[in-house]
Amino acid sequence: MTPITPSRRKGIVLAGGSGTRLWPVTLGTSKQLLPVYDKPMIYYPISVLMQAAIQEIAVITTAEDQGNFMRLLGDGSQWGLSLTYIVQPQPDGLAQAYILARDFLNGAPSALVLGDNIFFGQGLQDSLAKADAKELGGTVFGYHVADPERYGIVSFDASGRVKDLVEKPAMPQSNYAVTGLYFLDGRAPALASHLKPSARGELEIVDLLTAYLHEGTLDVETLGRGYAWLDTGTCASLLDAGNFVRTLTERQGMQVGSPDEIAFKMGWIDVGAFAARAKMFGKSAYGKTLGTLGRDTAQ
Ligand code: G1P
Repeated sequence: MTPITPSRRKGIVLAGGSGTRLWPVTLGTSKQLLPVYDKPMIYYPISVLMQAAIQEIAVITTAEDQGNFMRLLGDGSQWGLSLTYIVQPQPDGLAQAYILARDFLNGAPSALVLGDNIFFGQGLQDSLAKADAKELGGTVFGYHVADPERYGIVSFDASGRVKDLVEKPAMPQSNYAVTGLYFLDGRAPALASHLKPSARGELEIVDLLTAYLHEGTLDVETLGRGYAWLDTGTCASLLDAGNFVRTLTERQGMQVGSPDEIAFKMGWIDVGAFAARAKMFGKSAYGKTLGTLGRDTAQ
């Protein structure tokens, strides 16, 4: 298989935070290490970056949890990736990720994904490729939700142009949430360093995006009803996300959000390396589905 050429864009997975809405579960471990059915939560956002052909990825975690992420993910070579680990000393807002990752990015454009966001849908790879190809400015993805007051919200004017972006508005002007996946150009760390903390004391991602919006370089792509963008922020939504993945995986016998499968399909690991991983996980639900995939490919 000819390997897919990697993007020059670098990836960031933000997996810090204290997960207080899941206490006591997250008193002893990071939220992004919890299972979403058959695999750790962080596998899903890593899969999204890989589907955007991104191979160089920084994982931002708390200092306490960094060792566990390293144990789980290693240096990334099992998936043909290069992983870098960065500590977020305090959760001072999502936009802080760009400041922490400034040296890692070294001027490169980036895709930042929140470690608890799960995306699924046919055509996602095309949307990611389009966002990746954009040179100046950035792209974010809007998704229609029933509870807009819980998210960053994008509203549109009568002609469909983006009007504004507001974080968790009490009176939402639309039902379109800005999902936790942000493609921005190489200026993001410098722009983030000029942000002022919000009333809740955080460097807000919507403020950074608003800088791009005012410049006229922010695209908002909406993910239609064929997509699932799942929340894992509460006990109920975490369980729902797990059940969603289980339903698809068991019905189809195919993976959802597997870095092993994507690495293989991208041609970043060969069939031998893929088979070794499937064998290593042979006794688990995850490993069994990987084994099926290997058979399909051999046919
Ligand atoms: C964050 C962002 C918000 C975005 C959401 C997506 O909110 O601040 O703009 O819509 O992620 O998951 P949080 O989940 O950290 O409250």
